[in-house]
Amino acid sequence: MLLGAISTLAVAQDAPAPNAAPPAARQAIEVRKAIFTLIGANFRPIGETLQGKTPYDAADVQKRAERVAFLAPLLTDAFPDISSSGDTKAKPEIWSHRADFDQKLKTFQDHAVALAQLVGKDNTGSDAFKTAAAAVGKDCKGCHEDFKAK
Ligand code: HEC
Repeated sequence: MLLGAISTLAVAQDAPAPNAAPPAARQAIEVRKAIFTLIGANFRPIGETLQGKTPYDAADVQKRAERVAFLAPLLTDAFPDISSSGDTKAKPEIWSHRADFDQKLKTFQDHAVALAQLVGKDNTGSDAFKTAAAAVGKDCKGCHEDFKAK
């Protein structure tokens, strides 16, 4: 029974899926996607508020803006060279145009912090909120256009 389980494990390890990235790369890609999933889930309601689809909910907007500002810096370490290929939509241009990518990432991080700070002072859905939230949304879109495969 135990031996059977061990040999099954050995077989499973010996037969990685075709084109699978090495484990360290796979893990880096999974972590990256997890960060983006969290950023996406938290920014979505802010985007919907911005588009007038949902009314401004001060407590919710503040919570989510703080989360996005916390999560955005995690992306700084989320694109190691090893993670350039595998089950990922990250385009190779990230690594071949690294300075441009890093600049876009930094702008996004700065805008995410600016949004959280603004909401900390002025949590009313003002024009200043709209401007700050739209800047973040534009960063998502801009980076995806250049650096994320469809
Ligand atoms: C500096 C570039 C950049 C910025 C800014 C950026 N993204 Fe992304 N995003 C990417 C890349 C590259 C991927 C592909 C990651 C992968 O597949 O490994 C991605 C993937 C995603 C995913 C899919 C995750 C998955 O599991 O496949 C979501 C959701 C997402 N981004 C949402 C957002 C949102 C929302 C914002 C803005 C609040 C944002 N992104 C800002 C580059 C960026």
